[in-house]
Amino acid sequence: MAPSAEDAPSKRPRTSNCDAARDPFHRPVDGLAIPYLDQRGLKYEAGKTLVDVHGFAVMMEWERGLMAAHAAYVCGTDDSDGSPAPSHPRVLNVGHGMGIVDEEIQARIGEGHHIIVEAHPEVFPRAKEWAAGCKHPERVRVVGPTRWQEVDWEAIGPFTGIFWDTYEETVEDFFPLLPRILAPGGRFSFYNVYQPHDAVRHVAYSSYLQAILLKQGYRCTYHHLPVHVPPEDWEGIESPYWLHQMYLVPKCVKDKEECNNPEQREEEEAVAKFARALLPEERTAAGLESGQPLHTLLWKAKLWEVTKIAQMLPDSSAAAKVAAPSPGEGEGVRSLQPEGVPLTVLWDECVKQGVL
Ligand SMILES: C[S@@+](CC[C@H](N)C(=O)[O-])C[C@H]1O[C@@H](n2cnc3c(N)ncnc32)[C@H](O)[C@@H]1O
Repeated sequence: MAPSAEDAPSKRPRTSNCDAARDPFHRPVDGLAIPYLDQRGLKYEAGKTLVDVHGFAVMMEWERGLMAAHAAYVCGTDDSDGSPAPSHPRVLNVGHGMGIVDEEIQARIGEGHHIIVEAHPEVFPRAKEWAAGCKHPERVRVVGPTRWQEVDWEAIGPFTGIFWDTYEETVEDFFPLLPRILAPGGRFSFYNVYQPHDAVRHVAYSSYLQAILLKQGYRCTYHHLPVHVPPEDWEGIESPYWLHQMYLVPKCVKDKEECNNPEQREEEEAVAKFARALLPEERTAAGLESGQPLHTLLWKAKLWEVTKIAQMLPDSSAAAKVAAPSPGEGEGVRSLQPEGVPLTVLWDECVKQGVL
């Protein structure tokens, strides 16, 4: 059973789920916050930020490099995962935001079709205006203001490429829709900043999502990109949400038939074997209890596995820990420095050990 959207880690952390020690499935709901889609008066500064009424950034310009990588994958101009590119792309983007990924898609889509779904009544008109200004507006369609959960997909799908990047939601809830709307051989990618404040939890969660996708017949590989966000970009922003030096771009492609995927069975067997192999005290430490849903077991198994790898890293990697913020940086930045081992070091080791 997938965790509910409310319990899952939101894309952009709110103060209520920034606690790296918290289980991702159990974040308390912040009763004071107005749900994003009910907010009016979002602050949009072209070329800089889109900020919600509580001061949290919905989107920021520094993410352009990430968006370019996502766009290249879903449009088919990036073939680094070996999957064939579509001859006539029909690309869906869920969540217009600042329109950065849509610009990057337009730069790569050739004569293909580009469909945007946008739910917020203040963002939707900007998306329409942006689409009207495209070189070939007849090939760009904006659907909304409608949540992706309420779209009539049969009327507008299927797609050769899909990018998903919304707000206060988890991508896991979107996965079940993929078989209905992603064309055979189609490519899927999503914005990946879950569990942002601790490299171990971020890698474990990325690996968990990979396993869930594999169960549904999608092969997901992560490709890393270097990231540097100038500290001043966070000025005036509540809860900076990405302080690592790299980003993992998910590249997912429909692999084999869902019910006949041998790797799915292998994954499930591996979880069961893992749980059986642990000593009773280790099981307790990992939080594994018999009868837990497979998703919960899977998450705990991944977290345990990645934690162990982080603990085995030589002391030299501890020396590479993220440097303390320089004087003058805001309290928010200081308190949200990633904990422990750097993501770059952990990623290398996890790739070496076949975790990702
Ligand atoms: C982080 S922004 C997307 C940024 C975008 N990738 C870019 O490059 O600028 C998230 C967007 O998703 C929209 N959104 C939030 N929930 C949604 C939903 N359920 N369905 C569709 N759009 C949604 C928001 O209004 C916002 O425009």
